[in-house]
Amino acid sequence: MGVKLLPSGSSPPPLSRVAASAAHGEDSSPYFAGWKAYDEDPYDAAVNPDGVVQMGLAENQVSVDLLEGFRENALFQDYHGLDSFRKAMARLMEKITGGKATFDPDRIVLTAGATAANELLTFILADPGDALLIPTPYYPGFDRDLRWRTGVHVIPVHCDSGNGFQVTAAALQAAYDEAAAAGMRVRGVLITNPSNPLGTTARRAVLEDILDFVARNNVHLVSDEIYSGSAFAAPDLVSVAELVDCRARRHGGGGDDGVAGRVHVVYSLSKDLGLPGFRVGVVYSYNDAVVTAARRMSSFTLVSSQTQRTLAAVLSDEAFVDSYIRANRDRLRERYDHVVAALAGASVPCLRSNAGLFVWMDMRRLLGDGEGEATFADELRLWEKMLREAKLNVSPGSSCHCSEPGWFRVCFANMRLATLDVALARISRFVDKWTKSTVGKINNLQHSICDVNWLLLDRYHGSMRVYNSN
Ligand SMILES: Cc1ncc(COP(=O)(O)O)c(C=O)c1O
Repeated sequence: MGVKLLPSGSSPPPLSRVAASAAHGEDSSPYFAGWKAYDEDPYDAAVNPDGVVQMGLAENQVSVDLLEGFRENALFQDYHGLDSFRKAMARLMEKITGGKATFDPDRIVLTAGATAANELLTFILADPGDALLIPTPYYPGFDRDLRWRTGVHVIPVHCDSGNGFQVTAAALQAAYDEAAAAGMRVRGVLITNPSNPLGTTARRAVLEDILDFVARNNVHLVSDEIYSGSAFAAPDLVSVAELVDCRARRHGGGGDDGVAGRVHVVYSLSKDLGLPGFRVGVVYSYNDAVVTAARRMSSFTLVSSQTQRTLAAVLSDEAFVDSYIRANRDRLRERYDHVVAALAGASVPCLRSNAGLFVWMDMRRLLGDGEGEATFADELRLWEKMLREAKLNVSPGSSCHCSEPGWFRVCFANMRLATLDVALARISRFVDKWTKSTVGKINNLQHSICDVNWLLLDRYHGSMRVYNSN
């Protein structure tokens, strides 16, 4: 494994009881000790005739010659994963950061997708009853992946449209205090960069604030960067790995400011390469103890040798990977522009995004009856209407724990362009119909509320894209 990044005197936050315990049995069992001895000194008639003969592996090789062409993939590979594949993944992750971060293949732990990577890290970093802080809105799958089997709580870090939903130090502190007041121990912050559902990248200054926050409070940071290769417009993606490298350089290469050992990156091939069916995810940690625990736990969620070999071959073609990443980004940008232009035509504003597969659509003006504050119940009613009347399944912001009602996530990359155009036309008709029926019913108050919304959006010109209805 590469250089230890933690300077002496700086200890990272503790791991969970499960991760720290020896209940996995690997250290005390002769079963595992025998395997280790074999790994260190394997018998080979030609090159190591005095080595250990592996008689502790329940694997059937007697008929493997009959499985022509399968041999390599059929036999067991341990949970380290194939060298060639880990190297290829590290190289891919470096390419995606534009060479601004380096990844050590020995710190890569393979998992069956980011879903498994996120759960595995939660098991390692937190005990049941502990809390993770997650900025809102967030990927709805986290409620299952991080909480269900681990017994860990998620405390939302409330972000709002005032600054384009960027995380602030004050919001982090408020969530931390909320968890503490409820008697929960906060073990980490989990961010998604680029964000699902927002389709935005976290600004460098925001990431620096988050790193300072985790250092100050002695907690971990998990950065789910599953969409990092899908940043298609400025500002460029800043991976937390780039910041860790920068801080290490500032501290003379041999150490850092104590932050690296708290940082863990999650990646997967499901989004950037469009290969969710292959089930390939990565835990990348700068903390040796986390790498070791993650490797042990990855036994439950290994990636098949066949998949690793196939993808190692694909990824080792660097020219192909470069052109794929470029083409994919260009196509995503085209799609995004197409959707945003169509929504503009329908007078639907949305957040200015630069990454991922989503548009974060602002339908706040369609909520309620113009009297009183719009609510999440209004949002759900609107969602239901879009689903039943317009036959459109978009995700309401409340399913992503958004703090403001009226936002909806639209995925634009999971269908053919022709289908997307059908959907966009339906949105346009739906809004048109709403406008016509509302104009008759609603008093001037509603109009002034709409105006305020439009004006407010205009004020966020740095982060919001605003379209006028005329
Ligand atoms: C932020 C985020 N993390 C993790 C996942 C799960 O990805 P995988 O298919 O690699 O398990 C998703 C899928 O939508 C996601 O959006």
